[in-house]
Amino acid sequence: MKTLIKNGRIVTAVDDYVADIFIDGEVITTIGLDLDIKADRIIDAKDRMVIPGGIDAHTHMAMPFGGTTSADDFETGTIAAAHGGTTTIIDFAIQAKGTSMIDALDQWHRKADGKAVIDYAFHMIVTDLPKTGLKDMKRLIDDEGVTSFKLFMAYPGVLLVDDGTIFRAMSFAGEHGGLICMHAENGVVINELVERALQEGKTAPKYHALTRPAEMEAEGVNRAIEISKVANSPVYIVHLSSFHALKRIKEARDEGVAAFAETCPQYLFLDYSHYEQEGFEGAKYVMTPPLRDKSHQKELWTGLKMNDLQVISTDHCPFCFKEQKELGKNDFSKIPNGGPGVENRMSLVYNGGVVQGRINANRFVELTSTAPAKIFGLFPRKGTIAVGSDADIVIFNPNKKMTISASTHHMNVDYNAYEGLEVKGVSETVLCRGKVVVENGKLLGKPGEGKFIKRSGLNLRQQMPQALVQ
Ligand code: URP
Ligand code: ZN
Ligand code: ZN
Repeated sequence: MKTLIKNGRIVTAVDDYVADIFIDGEVITTIGLDLDIKADRIIDAKDRMVIPGGIDAHTHMAMPFGGTTSADDFETGTIAAAHGGTTTIIDFAIQAKGTSMIDALDQWHRKADGKAVIDYAFHMIVTDLPKTGLKDMKRLIDDEGVTSFKLFMAYPGVLLVDDGTIFRAMSFAGEHGGLICMHAENGVVINELVERALQEGKTAPKYHALTRPAEMEAEGVNRAIEISKVANSPVYIVHLSSFHALKRIKEARDEGVAAFAETCPQYLFLDYSHYEQEGFEGAKYVMTPPLRDKSHQKELWTGLKMNDLQVISTDHCPFCFKEQKELGKNDFSKIPNGGPGVENRMSLVYNGGVVQGRINANRFVELTSTAPAKIFGLFPRKGTIAVGSDADIVIFNPNKKMTISASTHHMNVDYNAYEGLEVKGVSETVLCRGKVVVENGKLLGKPGEGKFIKRSGLNLRQQMPQALVQ
């Protein structure tokens, strides 16, 4: 299949110009002015932005959590992602304690096989790390294309690993081209606060937030950074939510430490007041870290603008309000943690970032596609529009408006955290490896057409500002 995209405004992380793009099969083969090449299909992109497909580096499809399973699987979740202009997700396989990471990877491959409509890759969540685990890590990095590993400082007894394990994993990753992604929150202190709250009869959803103070996130970030320095390893902080935590990242990066971090739309557009809603409504926003006071948002935007934060991903982990969130009706600590977002990320960030004047269009592309591709070993195959890159392309209408709603979204969840919000900037036509997956709201892709993408080993130090590298 040969496709010609005409007259579009091509926006990458660095360029912004009008040209045509010729796609032969799955890759971009020519970019130029007034291309006159015979194609099977011509797409007119006049007055549209033509951007690299979004890369959401943090999703949880069909993830077991708190006695239930996240509501989107690899089929519904990737369909929703495609509608929102995302063409690659990086999801998390989970090593159950006492089992091998290779088994976990097999299990997650089985979950995704034949289901995805867009491309996907995996991180590995490490829950214990005996000597054999280091062998598994090496095999994942060298042979299986899984080059990043998430460790938890939170959820004692379930996912938390101790500082010795963190140090061992970081040392090994640093030496072998892997990256440790850290859920940085002091879960041990948080557990004390949760128990104290429950003993005092404080059971409502808002106590989820009130028992997870930003100071405990900053402590986790600080610990992760200091351990990474001794381990001589880069570190990537996931779902950073607060000014307190950002301050630690900024200080470390200013010292030349290879510390990276993502934030998520929920921390940029939603805030603590959502927990104060009537009845059990606040459960919709029970996620970890929790939504913070609105005052944090300005600081996070500054962090995004100044490159102290490099990525916006969603932490998409939806649970239905009915029956799933309701598991915690009488006890906030039993509400499954997580919320939906994979479908809305691109429009939310464009609207809140570019339309509202906080970042420019290049930075929008960088935060949602190019930077995650570079950090996680997908670049230049993905994350840009260039000759030789996969034709993962979004024809994005910067002037079209839409109102976000659970009644029209494609995520398999019975509410939308942004219900009723009008956004300007909509993904109209979405191509994954040259194939049109979504066109004007209609799904054309089929389950199984999305491929597992092996990622390459990482050299994160190269991605620090050169003046800072020690
Ligand atoms: O609340 C959240 N974030 N749920 C997903 C699991 C995680 O910690 O990322
Ligand atoms: Zn996490
Ligand atoms: Zn997550």
